[in-house]
Amino acid sequence: MSSKQNEQAISPIKGMRDILPEEARLWQMVEASARKIFELYGFRELRAPILEPTELFERGTGASSDIVTKEMYTFTDKGGRSVTLRPEYTPSVVRAIIEHRLDLQPLPLRFYYTGPMFRYDRPQKGRYRQFHQIDVEVFGEQDAAIDAEIIEMAYRFFQEVKVEGVSTLVNSVGCPRCRPAYGQALREAATKASDRLCTDCQRKAEINPLRIFDCKQESCQEAARTFPRITDYLCEECREHFKKFLSYLDLYQLPYRIEPTLVRGLDYYTKTTFELVVENLGAQNAIGGGGRYDNMVKEFGGPDLCGTGLAIGLERLLLVSKLEAPAPDFAYFAYSGEQARQASLLAARYFRTLGIPCIIEFKERSWKAHFSRANKIGATWTVIIGEDELSSGEYQLKDMLESKQYKGTIEQLTQIVIEKEKARQGILGRD
Ligand code: HAM
Repeated sequence: MSSKQNEQAISPIKGMRDILPEEARLWQMVEASARKIFELYGFRELRAPILEPTELFERGTGASSDIVTKEMYTFTDKGGRSVTLRPEYTPSVVRAIIEHRLDLQPLPLRFYYTGPMFRYDRPQKGRYRQFHQIDVEVFGEQDAAIDAEIIEMAYRFFQEVKVEGVSTLVNSVGCPRCRPAYGQALREAATKASDRLCTDCQRKAEINPLRIFDCKQESCQEAARTFPRITDYLCEECREHFKKFLSYLDLYQLPYRIEPTLVRGLDYYTKTTFELVVENLGAQNAIGGGGRYDNMVKEFGGPDLCGTGLAIGLERLLLVSKLEAPAPDFAYFAYSGEQARQASLLAARYFRTLGIPCIIEFKERSWKAHFSRANKIGATWTVIIGEDELSSGEYQLKDMLESKQYKGTIEQLTQIVIEKEKARQGILGRD
């Protein structure tokens, strides 16, 4: 490598980005809210690997889906195996259930997870190549009430993380019993409209005509609007399930709209599908999506265990969230001389034992420089230790918010900090 090349800054991969500390604080808040709320509904965390056998997604996500045909980060590892950075989480949970025989535990099972996913798509606002999902999955619950409860849980979460204006698009994509007749009708309609479809959709008409509904081309969308609607082809069981699902959404008074062309970009759905959309997000307006997949576990060689779930895109959620991260509270230590520095280190250790965050810096500073530094980094408290304090054993504590000063032993000062912080959190409602 030439020295010129050596000097060039290395940027992250296109469509992937760093999340810097200030923004990361919001991520922590959102993730903490998700955990709190999902656990309220009986969900438990299940963490699966980021890298999986490619076959998992080919079989799970679906061989004809855009994700598998165009968007996977797939490579051959040193052992000659084809591996893929997960583009979504659902197939991984199904694999874990079969692997660990989780189906033998009392059913239903409720799992959640939050982490990075990877899709090699064209990056734009709200669409990245590494993005993050919060995912929930329920197994072994046939009742349509759970499909609605997951959506109700999502709304509770949106409220907690200050996301407003979310509406739900719902549909039923039927089951292997009713879909073939619909597929046939759709194929016939698509063949008739073939000259109005893009070449990609002409191919889809043969393999999986449902996928034509996903196409963003205006001429394809226009043609698709004239195609037969799946809701007119549902079998008795699917129709009942859909009716019940909607009745529970009504019970919760959630805003939804039936969207018969909503088939979603993944092959595994049966019955319920839905998408959570926000109007002011532009082209990528879905902050979440999900549905029922009653056959995936069985198709993977596992037991006959139905599934239903939802994934929320964290980047998109944060684009519309009005959440604000409060500035962190901490104490800064201002000291002079080696002896005072050592006293500061021990005092900070005591502060931290009591849960009070502290910052000590090791550059020698004048008193003036110390105070200006404390202000600059936004310290809530400054502990002052100089010669007088060392000899008396009583340190000074400055409340930077109220410009008040206190004097006392380290035990007395920590009590002041704890009492004050408690009172302030009460006022500000922080947790
Ligand atoms: P999905 O609709 O493909 O569903 O993704 C869910 C959410 O992830 C989307 O609504 C969006 O917010 C976010 N998302 C997807 N792709 C990107 C991207 N390239 N950049 C940023 N955000 C993105 C699933 O993944 C299913 N596994 C959901 C599910 C769970 N179905 C049943 N259980």
